[in-house]
Amino acid sequence: MKRVLSGLQPSGQLHLGNYAGAIKQFIAMQDDHEMFVFVASYHALTSARDADELRANIRQVVVDYLAFGLDPKKTNIYLQQDVPQVTELAWLLSCVCPKHMMDKATSFKDKTAKGLAASIGLYTYPILQAADILSVDPDLVPVGEDQRQHIEITRDLAQKFNHHFASEEDPVFKIPDAMIRTDSGAVVPGIDGQKMSKSYNNGIDPFMDEKPLRKRIMKIVSDSTPVDQPKDPDCDTTYQIFTALVGKDDERAAVLRDKYVNPPADGFGYGHAKQALFELILDEFGEARKRRIDLMNDAGYVEEVLKDGAAAASERVAAVTARARAAAGL
Ligand code: AMP
Ligand code: TRP
Repeated sequence: MKRVLSGLQPSGQLHLGNYAGAIKQFIAMQDDHEMFVFVASYHALTSARDADELRANIRQVVVDYLAFGLDPKKTNIYLQQDVPQVTELAWLLSCVCPKHMMDKATSFKDKTAKGLAASIGLYTYPILQAADILSVDPDLVPVGEDQRQHIEITRDLAQKFNHHFASEEDPVFKIPDAMIRTDSGAVVPGIDGQKMSKSYNNGIDPFMDEKPLRKRIMKIVSDSTPVDQPKDPDCDTTYQIFTALVGKDDERAAVLRDKYVNPPADGFGYGHAKQALFELILDEFGEARKRRIDLMNDAGYVEEVLKDGAAAASERVAAVTARARAAAGL
């Protein structure tokens, strides 16, 4: 059985982009993979400055993982801070990381351009991410397109460490593969048509109450083609969000597509498309929305899940760390 690792930063409410680009993949893989899914709380400290807010966001990501359908019987769910050996691995990797590798990393430039403080933690963020990944010897790392460079850095660092401290026949680190969605859900647009992102405040949160959720969806940008005119679904943000959720080949996407291209006699406007998206979200996330309310009232259960997840992850991470220490002469 192939082993999988991935994680998300607890930087606030998750949105449909996180779901379609990341969490949906984790759920689809959990029946036939050995899964490690964690909350990147140390990474969040590169931007978080309010401790109470961070504490709440960390719990919220776990609740949301569980609500969306990650099953703790199949997936080890844990907090990065509960497996602190990853920071030791990050140090070992940082000692074989040429400075220019970090200079070339685009996320530091992007994030500081958006106003994040240029801390050393933010600068070496990819090394900690490499440690998260290599610490459990995964085969596959499912992530969104924006994480491709971080997985490449991870592979490079693993190879460098192996080259310095081990032999090809008996490497310290396994070289994992990225698994990146390239279909219609690869990049989910937000309500303004740009990539859905917390920092653009253009997200759709599937757990919102119905009324504000509908209002938010009705705000999605659209052009001014009249209701009786055919429209190009491939140029429309509402349609793109719809297909990111269900896939282009889904029957519901085909029905919607047909209405864009051949509007019925009484017309089909963008308002109708947005209503269809609203109904789809209520339908797709109906169970998740109910589960989330129960989970928010069962902190004890959430703590149990995290305890078990941390125990499983710690066992693997301890073995990998011991291997790396010994190879390096510690
Ligand atoms: P972030 O919240 O930006 O740290 O992203 C967490 C995960 O969700 C990463 O794997 C991202 O690639 C994925 N993700 C974030 N925004 C989107 C989006 N708009 N479309 C698809 N995937 C996304
Ligand atoms: N950098 C990732 C993001 O912003 C979060 C992350 C941290 C991660 N460590 C990871 C993702 C390890 C996959 C594997 O989404």
